[in-house]
Amino acid sequence: MIVLGIETSCDETGVAVYDTATGLRAHAVYSQIALHAEYGGVVPELASRDHVRKLLPLIRQTMVEAGLRVGDLDGVAYTAGPGLVGALLVGAGVARSLAWALDVPAIAVHHMEGHLLAPLMDDADPRGRPEPPFVALLVSGGHTQLVAVDAIGRYRLLGETLDDAAGEAFDKTAKLMGLPYPGGPQLAKLAETGRPGVFKFARPMTDRPGLDFSFSGLKTQVLLAWQQSEKSETTRADIARGFEDAVVDTLAIKCTRALDAAGCDTLVVAGGVGANRRLRAKLAAMADKRGGRVSFPPPALCTDNGAMIAFAGALRLQAGQHEDASVRVTPRWDM
Ligand code: KG4
Ligand code: ZN
Repeated sequence: MIVLGIETSCDETGVAVYDTATGLRAHAVYSQIALHAEYGGVVPELASRDHVRKLLPLIRQTMVEAGLRVGDLDGVAYTAGPGLVGALLVGAGVARSLAWALDVPAIAVHHMEGHLLAPLMDDADPRGRPEPPFVALLVSGGHTQLVAVDAIGRYRLLGETLDDAAGEAFDKTAKLMGLPYPGGPQLAKLAETGRPGVFKFARPMTDRPGLDFSFSGLKTQVLLAWQQSEKSETTRADIARGFEDAVVDTLAIKCTRALDAAGCDTLVVAGGVGANRRLRAKLAAMADKRGGRVSFPPPALCTDNGAMIAFAGALRLQAGQHEDASVRVTPRWDM
């Protein structure tokens, strides 16, 4: 089965072709970062308009790269939510129209399920693909969740953030220290040169039982530290390192607890913050210590992309799911 995947939930236009026989055939992501940079954040209306401009050319380009014609497609998967309503409607409208014209099924995919299944997509891991049951840590700009995956399609929420998502905390903290948008990856880069332990921040909500997170207090701690210290590149890097260590430690502590609670030893990490090098190293060390394993998608498939949507859609289509022809999106949607 050859499935086209379309992702337009936020500020990335992602298109990919996934073949259930041979794997990922092609994928392309167009990022709107430059468009939104001068506003310091995503402007929804500009995002929708840019998806309108970029989506069809990107579909054409991806089909050429895959060496396919649209008539070869067996299905079209698209992100139906959660996300920005106008941006979602662009992807949903194009996906549904294309599926209708080609007389193939269209399938609505939950953006976070796409992230969650991404680590199962390729065979890069010599230990083979992780098989459920496992625990998934979903860490993106909009979500921080621990999910027990009993089977593909059977998910139990174990814990989530009560305020800022981990990626949002990275972005907001970067902004208050004057780093350019989008701050998360820049802050992580700066942290590479920072010294550990010069600035010590709390590991929020780790001193009590439970699997929920709270990251909003951390940025206030960073703000105070930044305001009270002498401004220099060294200070900024040391604060970035202190902040990153606090987030990474907190995530690792809760992942260990979640694995204990779910009684399993396999952890799968997905979402943009999953690209963070220190998080990857810390969770790998944690898994080694327990004799378990942790799987990450390659960094390019951690952040928003069409490949994860094509893959999640292919699994659902293979399981016989399809829908009526209405163009429906769900901006707020529990997985
Ligand atoms: O999954 P994603 O691309 O979009 C959402 O669905 O939100 O995640 C984007 C988030 C942003 O908040 C970004 O700052 C964060 O992932 N991010 C990182 C890194 N790369 C992306 N955070 C920490 N370290 C990174 N290397
Ligand atoms: Zn995402």
